[in-house]
Amino acid sequence: MSKASDTAIVILAAGKGTRMRSELAKVLHRAGGRTLLEHVIRACQPLKPAQLLVVVGHQAEQVGELAEQLGGQAVLQQPQRGTGHAMQVARRAIRKSAKFALVLPGDAPLLLPETLAALLDAHQRGEAAATLLSAELNDPTDYGRVLRDSEGRVQAIVEEKAATPEQRAIREVNSSIYCFTLEKLWPALNALRPANFHRELYLTDAIGLMRQRNERVLAYVAPDANEILGCNTRAHLADVDRVLRARKAAELMESGVTIYLPETVVIDPEVTGGNDTVIEPSVQLLGKTRIGMRCKIGTGSILRDVRVDDDAIVGAHSVLDSSRVGATAQVGPFSRLRPGADIRPGAHIGNFVEVKNSVIHEGAKAMHLSYLGDASVGEKTNIGAGTITCNYDGVGKYPTTIGKKVFIGSDTALVAPIRVGDGAYVAAGSTVTENVPADALAIARGRQANKPGWAAKRRREMKRAEKSSGRSPRRAVGGRAKPNRRRAQSHSRGRRRPQPRKRSRR
Ligand code: UD1
Ligand code: MG
Repeated sequence: MSKASDTAIVILAAGKGTRMRSELAKVLHRAGGRTLLEHVIRACQPLKPAQLLVVVGHQAEQVGELAEQLGGQAVLQQPQRGTGHAMQVARRAIRKSAKFALVLPGDAPLLLPETLAALLDAHQRGEAAATLLSAELNDPTDYGRVLRDSEGRVQAIVEEKAATPEQRAIREVNSSIYCFTLEKLWPALNALRPANFHRELYLTDAIGLMRQRNERVLAYVAPDANEILGCNTRAHLADVDRVLRARKAAELMESGVTIYLPETVVIDPEVTGGNDTVIEPSVQLLGKTRIGMRCKIGTGSILRDVRVDDDAIVGAHSVLDSSRVGATAQVGPFSRLRPGADIRPGAHIGNFVEVKNSVIHEGAKAMHLSYLGDASVGEKTNIGAGTITCNYDGVGKYPTTIGKKVFIGSDTALVAPIRVGDGAYVAAGSTVTENVPADALAIARGRQANKPGWAAKRRREMKRAEKSSGRSPRRAVGGRAKPNRRRAQSHSRGRRRPQPRKRSRR
């Protein structure tokens, strides 16, 4: 990469971004999983410049903090009087020893370091006073246009608002990314005047001024026009997000991950995936998610800060947060892992099962409709459908500890704090409030009573009542043996007919 040890990089990030119609400063909006400013700073870092200055103004504190976290130095522009004024302010912070400035807007997140290096190189080799990065866009609307003379030399930049219809037809646009030789830039900056629609000092005017002084001004045309796309509106934000997501998907595919319908997936920059992992359509892999080899991530699943080890499967429509899925484990479809869920190798978590802050040990299974919170489930234990750990009493949270090879029957409520020993059984439908010793059977539910003939007798009574009222069996509302009291009342408009009150025997 080109030597930038005598170059100051200046990122202009003080504007409000009025066209975003947002409370948030434009450069703090996110695309491709990062703020716009972070993308721009990261593109600059490989050049190892002498200085990395970020001009801040609108929401200066937040923008400045982010800039400094990423190794930049914030310079305050207050008030913001345009891109040329931003450079005048930056001047104070640029060291005397610097020969060149590479200037970028904070809203161009697609720029690649190689292109910046090539621009700097073209500038130094061309011994220019200014070299601007231009691009040919199919739709140049909103951008400044590059005006060239009959010999093809750059003459000036004209902003869209000031352009004539002929100038608007020009497709070569200014990216707002420039390389300047500082001793040539300063006189031009001093000569800027706010003679434009916004009454601002435009850095673009410095190009024309330099040409008028017969300085050498070059344009380096970006090899990929997409790289220079700026973000002034929410629609632009969606456009650059799409490009950044596509780049990330391409990078993963390049490294051996299969992605079906890559245009539908959302993958954050730091996500990794191992060879032969398959990602189905409409998956979101966010934050620091790391997927091992030969995994499958089912359609519609959302994983944030999740580690998935080799050969694990995340079934469709599962939502996983800050948790871990061990090798060969299976989660989903329709599972929910909340922070601290640790699904150990070979364990299975099935549909509509929610796990929070719990360890599900090797080979354990909870396949249907359960909540496991603050729990430890031992190896090869089976959690029946509908089991709930009652971990919260309205004040505090308590643990549930279930041993190895335990069988928890369906629809069990485990009222924490509670322990179930190794090899124990809990009968279905139990509400367990006391510890269960190892190898014991716990039954904690009402005893069943069968009433012989009760149902047949009831049917006979119903039939009799229907005959005496002259109604067809279908019209006996709700299958009641006696006439429906509520109906009778509403039909009589409030006049209550006395009804014989006969209690059916149970
Ligand atoms: C600018 C260029 C235009 C170019 C386009 C490329 C000017 C006058 N126009 O227009 O030729 O085609 O970028 O995307 O430069 N900023 C400051 N301080 C200010 C004003 C702006 O730091 O006082 C920063 C903004 O935060 C932003 C950058 O400068 O990051 C560019 O400003 P923006 O308003 O986006 O300029 P454009 O209208 O896009
Ligand atoms: Mg812009």
